[in-house]
Amino acid sequence: TSTPIGTRPMMGFNDWARFTCAAQARLDGTRTGYSFQQFMLDQAQAMKDTGLVAAGYTNLTVDDCWMQRGADGHLHGASTWNSGSTQPGFDADLTAYANQVHSLGMQVGLYSTSGVNTCQGVPGGVMGHEQDDANTLAAWTVDSLKLDNCGTTGADRQQEFTTTANALKTATAGTSRKILFNESAPAGAGPASAAKYQTMDWVRGLGQMWRVSPDIAVWHNTTPMASAWDWPHGGDYYEGGVLQNYVDTVALARYNGAGNHNDADMLLIGDNNQLTQAEQRSQFALWSAMGSPLMISTDVRKMAADPVAYAPQLNILKNTDIIAVDQDTTAGGYLASRQSATETSGVDVVVKPLAGGARAVVILNRNATATAYTLDLGRIGFPNTGCARTAKDLWNHTTSSVQGSITVTVGSHDNAMYTIDPGTCGAAAPTGQIQAAQS
Ligand code: GLA
Repeated sequence: TSTPIGTRPMMGFNDWARFTCAAQARLDGTRTGYSFQQFMLDQAQAMKDTGLVAAGYTNLTVDDCWMQRGADGHLHGASTWNSGSTQPGFDADLTAYANQVHSLGMQVGLYSTSGVNTCQGVPGGVMGHEQDDANTLAAWTVDSLKLDNCGTTGADRQQEFTTTANALKTATAGTSRKILFNESAPAGAGPASAAKYQTMDWVRGLGQMWRVSPDIAVWHNTTPMASAWDWPHGGDYYEGGVLQNYVDTVALARYNGAGNHNDADMLLIGDNNQLTQAEQRSQFALWSAMGSPLMISTDVRKMAADPVAYAPQLNILKNTDIIAVDQDTTAGGYLASRQSATETSGVDVVVKPLAGGARAVVILNRNATATAYTLDLGRIGFPNTGCARTAKDLWNHTTSSVQGSITVTVGSHDNAMYTIDPGTCGAAAPTGQIQAAQS
């Protein structure tokens, strides 16, 4: 089969935010002999069983700790789940694993880093092994590589990412396969700065997607963890919440387009318990309006075992109208803006142009209480010319005629999301804050 190479934002599963490298039990609580590899295959099976694969979530990325550097110098699957664990890791050769993932209709994603040691201290990074590791991935029929920053800084980072990008191309040259290159480098450059913009410029020439914001808050097993919504990054720019990652990513909208995907990091939608359902809806709406990859990091096994209990979360993840907004790269980019706080305090508007002149709009209420808001449609390019356009409410699945403005009351930390089709009314350039956010 041919491999998608990232024209549209990646959709799939990544284990990191929900599980880190901690060894996991089977759903029945037993652990003996339960391997990291089987755990990933169980998540893949659950992705299929819940309909998430059919909904488009087809990439299965295993993050840190899956690997080891063999005595022969080659890359192998780790023999145990993580250091100190007695549970098995992966087969040394991941070919059988890849075959199983492919047979479930998914693509295989692996993680590595640009230095020698991964961020968890596993000596499996590509430095000094770039071509050999790329050849190994190609031999295993791996479809994507997430390359992290640990072990490099500045110029040697650019060098390692460049060498690895070229190695991946060399490894698949003359074949129908490609390995998508998923780069973490911009996130490692910290908050917006000249150095970050330089990093954005070079990653675009090498890969198809890149992390631009901090690590989305990992699951700390506390209930609920409000900070996963509003956690600001500290001086080290290490961990962020939904708002932090959204604000940082939306500011880089101009770098986004077909095959160029700003990644706001993983979705905390499922059993994670860190976000309210309103906040989960808002993460999904914002990530889609930003054209971010949609990588689920949750225990999909639990959702498959009890789809009735997890219907709210599955309904968010399988909202086909909102997925379509995310995957629409027709416009080659998106407009995005936080509105001026002096307008209606705590309400943000994010806009994305869609095929055929339509636009998606998210109205986000950051306030602690429900807030009424009137969106002047002229601001998003639909001025009041006395002609009614059609708005579809993507959460309530209703359509209505709109002219001039939309007024809506949005719950705390929740959002309203619409696609507006201009029909024969036409569209103009957006005005005000929204337009300014492009430059
Ligand atoms: C970094 C990355 C995360 C994850 C971990 C793994 O922090 O940003 O997404 O890959 O490393 O150690």
